[in-house]
Amino acid sequence: MMAAKMFTIHFYVTFLLFTIRVSSSFIDYGENYRRNVSLELNPGLNSSLTPPPLGVGLIHVRALGQNDTLHYLFCSLGAPALLLVHTNSTSSKVEVDWPVFLSANASGSLRVTPESTVLHRNALIFTRLWEYSDVNDTAEPELLPFSSFFQPYELQNFTWGDLRKKLDPTAHTALLCGGDSSESFSNGSLCLKFSAFGSVGREKGWPSLLHNANSSQVRVWLDGVTPRSNRSRFSLELQSVGSTNPLTRVNVLQSIDDEYTPSIFKVAQWVSSPGNSSSPILSYAQWKPVAYRKASPVFEDATPCHHSTPVAIAQRPPSGLVLAYFGEGRQTTGLNITFSIAGDPFYNTTNYLSWTVLVGLGSPPVDSFSPLVLAIMAVGLGTPLLIILIGVVCVCVRKNRTQVQVYQPIN
Ligand SMILES: *[C@@H]1O[C@H](CO)[C@@H](O)[C@H](O)[C@H]1NC(C)=O
Ligand SMILES: *[C@@H]1O[C@H](CO)[C@@H](O)[C@H](O)[C@H]1NC(C)=O
Ligand SMILES: *[C@@H]1O[C@H](CO)[C@@H](O)[C@H](O)[C@H]1NC(C)=O
Ligand SMILES: *[C@@H]1O[C@H](CO)[C@@H](O)[C@H](O)[C@H]1NC(C)=O
Ligand SMILES: *[C@@H]1O[C@H](CO)[C@@H](O)[C@H](O)[C@H]1NC(C)=O
Ligand SMILES: *[C@@H]1O[C@H](CO)[C@@H](O)[C@H](O)[C@H]1NC(C)=O
Ligand SMILES: *[C@@H]1O[C@H](CO)[C@@H](O)[C@H](O)[C@H]1NC(C)=O
Ligand SMILES: *[C@@H]1O[C@H](CO)[C@@H](O)[C@H](O)[C@H]1NC(C)=O
Ligand SMILES: *[C@@H]1O[C@H](CO)[C@@H](O)[C@H](O)[C@H]1NC(C)=O
Ligand SMILES: *[C@@H]1O[C@H](CO)[C@@H](O)[C@H](O)[C@H]1NC(C)=O
Ligand SMILES: *[C@@H]1O[C@H](CO)[C@@H](O)[C@H](O)[C@H]1NC(C)=O
Ligand SMILES: *[C@@H]1O[C@H](CO)[C@@H](O)[C@H](O)[C@H]1NC(C)=O
Repeated sequence: MMAAKMFTIHFYVTFLLFTIRVSSSFIDYGENYRRNVSLELNPGLNSSLTPPPLGVGLIHVRALGQNDTLHYLFCSLGAPALLLVHTNSTSSKVEVDWPVFLSANASGSLRVTPESTVLHRNALIFTRLWEYSDVNDTAEPELLPFSSFFQPYELQNFTWGDLRKKLDPTAHTALLCGGDSSESFSNGSLCLKFSAFGSVGREKGWPSLLHNANSSQVRVWLDGVTPRSNRSRFSLELQSVGSTNPLTRVNVLQSIDDEYTPSIFKVAQWVSSPGNSSSPILSYAQWKPVAYRKASPVFEDATPCHHSTPVAIAQRPPSGLVLAYFGEGRQTTGLNITFSIAGDPFYNTTNYLSWTVLVGLGSPPVDSFSPLVLAIMAVGLGTPLLIILIGVVCVCVRKNRTQVQVYQPIN
């Protein structure tokens, strides 16, 4: 009896310790790395020079680590693009030759120096917005005839708002909104909100992606745009550029926690990796396959989305930043993110769509059990054990009493 009791207590204590260890290791997850983040607009642009034309803005975020620096460059020259450059120096700099950068051939006008410290570089470009009339409600643009598509919106031809007025240097965010001159955009716009992070965390609004010190985020939304048909759905075309390793394959992983992104159990990551699937990931774009049909969504406003297979692209991406930094030597890949699935409401019901992507260096963040889920697990698993333990103790106490009663008459 005593042995059983001791065993139960021992087991319970061990279990508790194990839970605490597992949970603390989940919570930390090596995410203690912090960076000192600072944001500047148009680095090195001398204000006495001709100011850049309205709508051209280059945001530079320097995320300084202990031994390294991550440079993020977000630019609206041409199609919006986010460039990530990782150096193994804490004093690397961004140098822009502004007259050339703003000229027709910007090739080679942006450098990160000293160039020998650059370890990795990759860019993500938001190239096109496709709109198609989903007459049969399939939400499979890949299978539709070309006649179902409207002329795509070329984001390189959009007029973008002035980035200078939409900067938050303390929160490290920048907002870029724009549209073309067509009727559809007369009351609406496509917006991109760029955020850089210096430590681990999550944004409040869904999908609340987990970010860390090596990541940045772009939230894209389409607000108030008049669709060109009543059954319109949209796809967003993304391109990736690298001098050697652009983003090539998309891994879709199961996500274990839906507390932060209700009803979505998957996470997709488009990764740059030099070799096969076992080689380390150099950089990534990560997203949850979900878009939201309202600015302040509730559960019903979530709509799943899917991506097409990445393909190699021969043409030069329509981004001034990419041309300025990569010049002619580069590789390009692209894919489409299609919002909504068959049966979900069409765009015309809310005239709103938002989608969020995380862009960063190294391995993408992994969602872990949240403290709330851990507490529920601990209570759920711990309570039955506690009841068993109490049961065992009671039985033992009773046995002892019975034994006492049994022995008394013999005395
Ligand atoms: C961020 O990058 C630095 C430098 O490469 C690395 O030491 C650190 O572990 C990374 N942090 C995370 C959370 O990936
Ligand atoms: C971060 O950078 C700012 C500006 O460069 C500097 O003033 C500050 O001391 C730095 N903080 C840390 C913790 O390094
Ligand atoms: C900016 O222009 C002024 C006046 O032309 C000059 O004195 C200054 O050195 C310039 N600064 C840079 C960083 O080029
Ligand atoms: C930084 O570099 C020094 C020497 O180069 C090395 O000892 C140290 O471990 C590095 N720290 C990090 C966080 O990588
Ligand atoms: C742009 O300039 C670079 C060098 O400055 C040159 O190699 C390239 O051919 C030019 N491209 C075009 C399209 O003129
Ligand atoms: C930085 O990386 C370059 C290229 O990989 C390497 O040659 C150089 O020694 C590295 N410097 C430091 C301080 O680690
Ligand atoms: C829609 O479905 C009808 C009947 O199945 C078919 O004839 C038609 O080609 C489909 N249209 C498109 C655009 O797929
Ligand atoms: C977008 O701009 C490019 C280059 O300026 C031009 O060739 C193309 O025709 C434009 N597309 C549309 C739809 O206006
Ligand atoms: C834009 O809004 C104005 C005023 O609300 C309205 O009169 C106009 O019809 C709208 N245009 C479109 C294309 O929806
Ligand atoms: C869209 O639906 C509305 C209301 O049902 C209708 O009045 C309008 O004509 C339709 N527009 C098109 C382009 O089919
Ligand atoms: C949206 O399109 C659907 C399908 O054609 C139509 O029934 C509905 O009336 C439209 N809604 C609005 C607000 O125009
Ligand atoms: C995106 O979708 C459109 C329409 O189906 C297609 O023409 C285009 O090639 C696709 N882009 C990529 C990168 O797959």
